[in-house]
Amino acid sequence: MEQLIIHGGAGSLEGKLAEAQKMHDSLCHIWEESFVLLQKGSAEEVVRHAIRLLEDDPVFNAGTGSKLQFDGQVRMSSALMDGNNNRFSGVINVQNIRNPIEAAALLSREKHTILSGEQATAFCHKHGMPEYDPVTPERFEEYEKRCAGKHGTVGAVALDKEGCIFAGTSTGGIGCEIPGRVSDSPTVAGTYASTKAGVSCTGIGEQITQQAAAAKVVTRVDDGMTLHDAVARTMRESNKFNYLYGLISLDSAGQVEVGKTAALNEVFYAFHDGEMIRTFFT
Ligand code: GLY
Repeated sequence: MEQLIIHGGAGSLEGKLAEAQKMHDSLCHIWEESFVLLQKGSAEEVVRHAIRLLEDDPVFNAGTGSKLQFDGQVRMSSALMDGNNNRFSGVINVQNIRNPIEAAALLSREKHTILSGEQATAFCHKHGMPEYDPVTPERFEEYEKRCAGKHGTVGAVALDKEGCIFAGTSTGGIGCEIPGRVSDSPTVAGTYASTKAGVSCTGIGEQITQQAAAAKVVTRVDDGMTLHDAVARTMRESNKFNYLYGLISLDSAGQVEVGKTAALNEVFYAFHDGEMIRTFFT
């Protein structure tokens, strides 16, 4: 059974009904448009498609609308993981491109696994990705006020008809961070998949990295734990440190789990439960 789950970050939209509605509508639209592709296409195509749409929507902090680092520069990171072939690829702090997830996809065809900084940007341009300015007026205003902003990372995990699982994540970071800071998203802590499960994380990257969250959940499922138990146990462990993050995940049977630590208000997700699209808003 094909399955797709996407997220548009984590945090709190309490008391902000209009914003919550906007994010809900966008997630539903992107989920529907991407799921149509999954009827014929591969998990890779669908994860890339969904993340491109999320990156292009300025409401989310990835691609267009990414947060600015302390020096006023946007540096974006992304990763893609092919669960069946155990193939991870990620780019760290890439600049001036529209869709960082496509940079990770480009790299997945190369010898190396992770590329960073200026060289990652040069790699993208060399492979035909045009120059693009992802800064939006809203993010620039947040930066000028030295305000980290509200919304986070985006991600998608898909299971296709062939039983292949792909996970992907893309982020503009946490905002006003030390230039060059590396988030969890382009590492196996934030994005991971196997033949049995896939995970994409969102929240405070340092904490996700310290918990090796995505890789830990997937490894637990590989070792025989149910996805539900693997996510619950990982969240319990993170709660001991009062960490603030969440994740979306699915397994090879198409079961979906959204996890969050106790300190986190909400993960902004969307998936179909067989009857209707479920989101953080329903
Ligand atoms: N989880 C995204 C970040 O911390 O940058």
